[in-house]
Parts: sequence; C-alpha cells; structure tokens
Amino acid sequence: MDLKSLIRTIPDYPKAGVMFRDITSLIEHPEGFKESVQKLADPFRDQGITHVAGIEARGFIFGAGLAIELGVGFIPIRKAGKLPGETIGQNYALEYGVDTIEMHAGAVKAGDHVLLVDDLVATGGTAIAAISLIRRTGATLNHSAFVIDLPDLGGAEKIRAQDVETHFLVE
Ligand code: PRP
Ligand code: ADE
Repeated sequence: MDLKSLIRTIPDYPKAGVMFRDITSLIEHPEGFKESVQKLADPFRDQGITHVAGIEARGFIFGAGLAIELGVGFIPIRKAGKLPGETIGQNYALEYGVDTIEMHAGAVKAGDHVLLVDDLVATGGTAIAAISLIRRTGATLNHSAFVIDLPDLGGAEKIRAQDVETHFLVE
C-alpha cells in the first residue's frame, strides 16, 4: 500500500509557511493504519525489545499498536504535569522557548531495552529529549521508529548521532 498517499498535507498549519503532515488521514484508513504498525514493527521482532515508549500525543497512537504487535508493554512519555505518579523530566528547546516531557520514575530500568516511537521527526528535539530521559533510567535505548521523516530539518541525523538507529516508513 502507498502509505505516503494516505498522509495529507495541510499548508500553513499551525502557522504560515509550515506544511503540516497530518497522520489522521492515515489512521482512519483501516488497512493503512494496520500496515503502518506492522511495518514499524518489522525490524524489531527479534531484537529483544522489552518496552515501547511513545511520545504524546501522536506517538501514543502508533506506539500502542506497536507494543501490542511486539508483545511488550507501553510507556507513555507525556507533556509536563500529566502523569499522576513520581516523574522524571527533561527540558527541550522549541522554536520559541522550552518545553518539558516526563515519564514515570521506575517505568523502565537497567536491563530493559526500549524502542522509542513517534509519528514524525522534524528538528529531532523531541526525540533527543526522550532518548536522554529514557537513558537516565539506566535502560538501554538503541532503536527508534517513526512514520515520517522530514529530512530537510536534519532531525534523523541528530538521533543517529546519539547512537540510536532510526526506522522511517516515509520521507
Ligand atoms: C510533533 C510530532 C513530534 C514532534 C516533532 O508533536 O508529533 O512529537 O512534533 O518535532 P521535532 O522533531 O521538531 O521535535 P507536537 O509537539 O506537535 O505534539 P502533538 O503530538 O501533541 O501534536
Ligand atoms: N511537527 C513538527 N513539524 C511538523 C510538520 N511539518 N507536520 C506535522 N507535525 C509536525
């Protein structure tokens, strides 16, 4: 299936000049959504992955499916203030200012092998923050999977520079 053709582009959202790559048109297509999750999982079926970590919000959609597909647990990485238990947090730079992502302290630990999942890599800032956060727990994070790479923005290279392999379905 041509997954790229199922991802629609909305010009000038959320602000002028941005070409927003919208995965809602992919996930409302049952075969497209299923094939996306299966293809995201394919390189990781025999890699000893123990947990999938997905980044709020769009990373939850694919990450949850991937965790079920791989038969492992799902770890939510959320925007600050959303998780009820004790958390650890990581700041990251936005175009203007900073934001924070958090995960539950103790959700993963040394000896675990975590696969990071999100819908899209742009600058890579969100993924780099998630990699730092997960590695601070002592868990191993060597693999990541995303539906879309925006190669002009260089995020994938930054992720690989952290010794994390990247798997993308479309550019
Ligand atoms: C989008 C996307 C990634 C991030 C990529 O999420 O889902 O998480 O931006 O950008 P980067 O590579 O430049 O960090 P967003 O922060 O818009 O949140 P959402 O999923 O809640 O819409
Ligand atoms: N997040 C950052 N840049 C994006 C884009 N162009 N489309 C969708 N999500 C994004």
